[in-house]
Amino acid sequence: MPKSIAIDGPAGAGKSTIAKKVSAELGFIYLDTGAMYRAVALKAIETGINTKSREDLINIIDNINITITHDDNVQKIFLDGRDVSEHIRTAQVSAGAADVAAIKEVRLKMVELQRRIAGEKDVVMDGRDIGSYVLPQANLKVFLTANIDERAKRRYEELVLKGQEVYLEEVREDMMNRDHNDMSRAFAPLKKVPDAVEIDSTSMTIEEVAERILYFYNNYA
Ligand code: C5P
Repeated sequence: MPKSIAIDGPAGAGKSTIAKKVSAELGFIYLDTGAMYRAVALKAIETGINTKSREDLINIIDNINITITHDDNVQKIFLDGRDVSEHIRTAQVSAGAADVAAIKEVRLKMVELQRRIAGEKDVVMDGRDIGSYVLPQANLKVFLTANIDERAKRRYEELVLKGQEVYLEEVREDMMNRDHNDMSRAFAPLKKVPDAVEIDSTSMTIEEVAERILYFYNNYA
């Protein structure tokens, strides 16, 4: 049975960066599940579908082809055969991803793919519902948080580095909305499960967080 580490938490807590680092240390693959919801949102936006329309999304979800590759520990995501790894990182797609993620039929489809990957390879998977729903049997569950100002600042700096024109206040607002949606949706909401280790990364470096997770994995998983 392949091994798994689940990392959940709100937007901008550093989940993907940490998942990538921990997976490299352990020789696992890492899977950023947010990228899948982003790819569905991108498809909806490109085909002119309202990202909030359950009916329209149900109509397209079975015909969306999402594939993930991992070369040298870099995840690439393909939508209908096209590499969209960069296209999914815009503010518009972020907001759309939170919309499509609230739709149960979309989630079921993504979860099927996530479980299939975890059934084949050792994985560090990050998202919102990994420990609580996707992989309840994960060897280690981590709930990664940081305060909202720090999370907004990190995401803002990341977007600016990519050349996007954004405002810190807007990034902060968008994060708060997404967190609220993620925590309040009916199906598989974001929550800390009792058997998860909570790590507040507000004043920790990436290395410190990764070390703490590796410590828990090596000693308690
Ligand atoms: O992690 P990231 O910010 O890329 O995720 C984009 C959106 O996808 C989140 O705001 C959340 O609504 C959704 N998501 C989810 N469940 C996951 C991963 C992401 O609902 N496992």
